[in-house]
Amino acid sequence: MTVENEKKKVIFSAVKPTGAPTLGSYAGALKNWLAMQEDYDCFYCVADMHSITVTLSAADFRKNTLDMLAMYLALGLNPEKCTLFIQSHVSAHAELAWVLNCNTLFGEARRMTQFKEKSKKNPENVNVGLFDYPVLMAADILLYQAELVPVGQDQKQHVELARNIAQRFNGRYSPTFVLPEPIIPKNGAKICGLQNPKSKMSKSDDNHNDCVYLADEPDVIMRKFKAAVTDSDACIKFERESKPGISNLLTVYSTFSGTSVPAAEKEFAGLGYADFKKRVGESVIEFLKPVQAEYKRILADKTYLNEVMKTGAEKAARTAARTLSKVYRKVGFVQPF
Ligand code: TRP
Repeated sequence: MTVENEKKKVIFSAVKPTGAPTLGSYAGALKNWLAMQEDYDCFYCVADMHSITVTLSAADFRKNTLDMLAMYLALGLNPEKCTLFIQSHVSAHAELAWVLNCNTLFGEARRMTQFKEKSKKNPENVNVGLFDYPVLMAADILLYQAELVPVGQDQKQHVELARNIAQRFNGRYSPTFVLPEPIIPKNGAKICGLQNPKSKMSKSDDNHNDCVYLADEPDVIMRKFKAAVTDSDACIKFERESKPGISNLLTVYSTFSGTSVPAAEKEFAGLGYADFKKRVGESVIEFLKPVQAEYKRILADKTYLNEVMKTGAEKAARTAARTLSKVYRKVGFVQPF
């Protein structure tokens, strides 16, 4: 018998569809999303509105957003278990963001590390959206009364800001928002670049062999793994500092084959690097085979994709509308009729 007080905890998370998903996106975020959909009430969002703080080609951007949704479904996100939707389809995100803007101090937004770093990196386009980015994120989270927000280390500060904004609003008006907490999934493996194994696998890297995409063809995947940077001491051991290339390949193997790193070290003991790289490549290709078949099938089935988007957005909008109407009432907007 299901009991009322066994209500599942609410989780909110999102990714920006600025590029195609990579092995790193799977290991760092998606793998956890999949696990969490079983035990929590999860809202997963493709944060397209967050993506336009940089200028993108509209056609590429639209394609990326749909590709990403299809890839998530192919990997096993189940719209019957979680609420999967596109941010711009639920207008409450933009609407709540405005009210939260008026409850966020300029000074606290200015302290955000990511804003400082991004403005330094791209000084010719420091737009207000870039500054306001964390407040929109706060709206995303608070609309669904999420308790837990799984994010990477770089987004932790933004979730803490969301919590501060929620607390201020609750204090200024009356309790309205659940206070969210960031969680950095411990089992989220960090996958580094195949060419630069000391830094995160990067889409923007000029070296095209650095990054493996989940939708890459098998021969492309194999080519990239064969070209992976290693070292010169012919020993397959996990030592992040002194052997970043080999350690990263072991992490990849472990993530995609399900073998633990120590077991993989044993399995590969004495093997040459060329054969090792081939085996790692094969494990990824093997894992992705059914996923890519499903991905292609879904992308070709526009009716299904549209149905998923529609159902997800409607479900999300129902929850979001409840929060937004409470907020509108509390700040004193006249009730519409
Ligand atoms: N900013 C996040 C990122 O770049 C994506 C994101 C948007 C998000 N809204 C969110 C993450 C709300 C967690 C909660 O990865």
